[in-house]
This record gives sequence, C-alpha cells and structure tokens, in this order.
Amino acid sequence: MKNKNYKLETKLIRAGLNRTQFNETSEPIFMTSSYVYDSPEQAEARFKGEDEGFIYSRYGNPTVKVFEDRLAEIEKGEKCFATSTGMAAVFASLMCLLEQGDKVVASRALFGSIYQILTNILPKYGIETVLVSGTNLDEWEAAIDDRTKAVFFETPSNPTLEIIDVSAVCKIAKKHGSKVIIDNVFATPILQHPLELGVDIVVYSSTKHIDGQGRALGGAIISDNEYYDKFLKPFMRHTGASMSPFNAWVMLKGLETLKLRVEHQSDNALQIANYLKKHPKITKVIYPAEQTHEQYELINSQMSKGGTVLTMIIDGGKKEAFKLLNSLKLIDISNNLGDTKSLITHPATTTHYSLGELGRKEAGIPDGMIRLSVGLENVDDLIDDLEYSINIF
Ligand SMILES: Cc1ncc(COP(=O)(O)O)c(C=O)c1O
Repeated sequence: MKNKNYKLETKLIRAGLNRTQFNETSEPIFMTSSYVYDSPEQAEARFKGEDEGFIYSRYGNPTVKVFEDRLAEIEKGEKCFATSTGMAAVFASLMCLLEQGDKVVASRALFGSIYQILTNILPKYGIETVLVSGTNLDEWEAAIDDRTKAVFFETPSNPTLEIIDVSAVCKIAKKHGSKVIIDNVFATPILQHPLELGVDIVVYSSTKHIDGQGRALGGAIISDNEYYDKFLKPFMRHTGASMSPFNAWVMLKGLETLKLRVEHQSDNALQIANYLKKHPKITKVIYPAEQTHEQYELINSQMSKGGTVLTMIIDGGKKEAFKLLNSLKLIDISNNLGDTKSLITHPATTTHYSLGELGRKEAGIPDGMIRLSVGLENVDDLIDDLEYSINIF
C-alpha cells in the first residue's frame, strides 16, 4: 500500500499487503519454519543484516510480517513484533527493556496475569514494581523517578474499567525519561490511539478483538524503530514467543472487519449498560459512557466509543452472581472477551482469582462484580437473556 495517508478503514484491509507472483486476493499463509539461500555468501549476508530476507520463522515470516506491518500502520507506529499470545507481548515489552535495579511504576487495576508479572516475576530479577492508583496523578508523580525505566497501565482497565489520563501520565514519565507502555486491549486500535497521546509502546492481546471470533491466540507490540531495534527485536528473536503464520493469517482476516465489529459491539454494550442502569437489582453499572461513568470527560477526550465490555455490581455476592450466570440461556460463561459471541465472567473467581482476597480488595473487585463482553448478537435478545437471569437471582 503506497499511500500512507489512507484512512483507518482502508489500512485495516490493505496495509502491509505484499502479493506474490500469483496475485492472490487474500494474503497467503507461508507455513514454513525456515528459508533456503542461493549460496553460503547470501546466508552469511542475511545473518549479518546486509541482505534483506527471511532467515527463520522465529525471527520473521512473510505472513506474520503482513500482520505486523498492517498493525504498525494502523497504530501509526514505526515497527511491530507479533507474539504468540498477549501475555508474551506484555512480558517481552517489559523484560526486553528492564535490568536489575530498575523500577517499574504501574497502575493497580490490571489484568490478573499482568499483576503476577509485575508483583511476582519481575522482583525475582531485582526489578522493583510500585503500584499506584491509576486515576490519581499525584501518586504517579510521587512514584515515577529517574530509576523508573518503564511505566505500565491499561485503560480502560480489566475489569473495573478505570480510565487513566494517558497524556498526563506520559508527561510525568517523559520528565524522567521513562518509557510508557500501554495495554490497549479494551480500547482496541479502533477506539483509542495511544501513540498520538504520547505513549511509547502499545501492546495487544490479539486473541481479543483483533481475532474476535474465538479462534486463535496472539499478541503484538508496536513501537518506534529505536525501541524495536535496540531492545525488542533481539529479545524476541532469542526468547522465541513468536506468532505462528497461521495465527497471523487469522488475525489479518480479523483486522479486516475489526472496525465494524468493535463499533457495533460498543453500540450494543451502551444499550445494555443503559438498560442495566435502570434495573433495581443492579447496584452499579460501569461502562465508559456519559450515563454510566464518573470520568466521562476524560473518556471523551481519548476514546471514540465506550468499548465492548461493561461491568456490573449486583445486589448480592458470589452466590447471587453464580445464580445469574447459571440462568443465562444465550450469553456464554467464558473469561475471554472481545468476541462476536457475548461472554460473561465472574472476575473474583476467574480472571482475578490469582490476586487473592486482599489484592482484589485493593483493585476494587467485589464478589458481586460481573464482567460482560458484549458480542454481535441482536441486542434485544441479549437484554431478554439478562432480564430473565437477573430476575431469578
Ligand atoms: C487486558 C488484557 N491484557 C492481556 C491479556 C492477555 O492476553 P492473552 O490471553 O492473549 O495472553 C488479557 C487476556 O485476557 C487481557 O484481558
């Protein structure tokens, strides 16, 4: 795709396209682990970086490269490395950068496995993690110092949908030369553009909306050339959590319809949030939209829609939450999100179980909290399913 000024919809479908001599319409899947060279001289030149071309699919693969180039263009970043899962992306984005004695400052409202990396795994290598309340800029200001090499947060966060002021945190981080890494999974490449807000590195679990049809695991890290060349590329090549060519192809097909899906699912989510807000058995609805979120002004300044996920707190605890989930006839019980199928989960016993009771208390995840990832089904059918089940508990 030659014209870099193409709009988002066009890039989602065509960026990175690199047709073979057969002029195929759809991107081909190069299921190959390695590549052959014309001569040992050429092999040597490739390894020295003097000859462009593929070496080994752990380093790079033509199908994976189309996905990486497309995502980099969509995000307006310079480079992208695709990973085997979203967690591989999160871990690599931090680990390639950090050394013993460094410090990471992160928001407390995090996906469970990210919380584990920050609080259990990194400290084993002499890296200190300081957690702050993501919405409190004074806490970010007090925690970030010259030893802070990385700042990490999700916004909206999982599952409390807390919104962090991206530009403001980036400004604080820049004063100390810290790299800002954002997990943009909930906002998706459609609803929020973190690099334009000052973020240095964007990570995705492409398992979520990018595939969005429950088929394949994957992840991606988008950055500038410097971070990619100096830190990320060597780390990924040697540690090996690369994306498979088949999964890259699935993700490419997902990108083609991403905008349509995310916008429609967000519209469904907004309608459901407005319905739940009026229900007497629902104590609180958290959804990044005017009627259902305290930080609406900030949301409006950095997101174009509220996203596909909403969280509710019911008038009850685990027993009532389980009763609600067990009564659903249409919405599936699953910890995944961003899917065309609506998926519901009880974070305290699933995605955020590993935080422990205290960790969940600090992260604001009570036993009466339920997270709903809204799909593409007819919204009235979804509301009927919820109504029936809420009335039962
Ligand atoms: C916000 C967020 N980040 C990262 C991940 C990890 O992604 P994956 O399951 O692809 O490793 C998840 C998964 O649920 C998530 O919700």
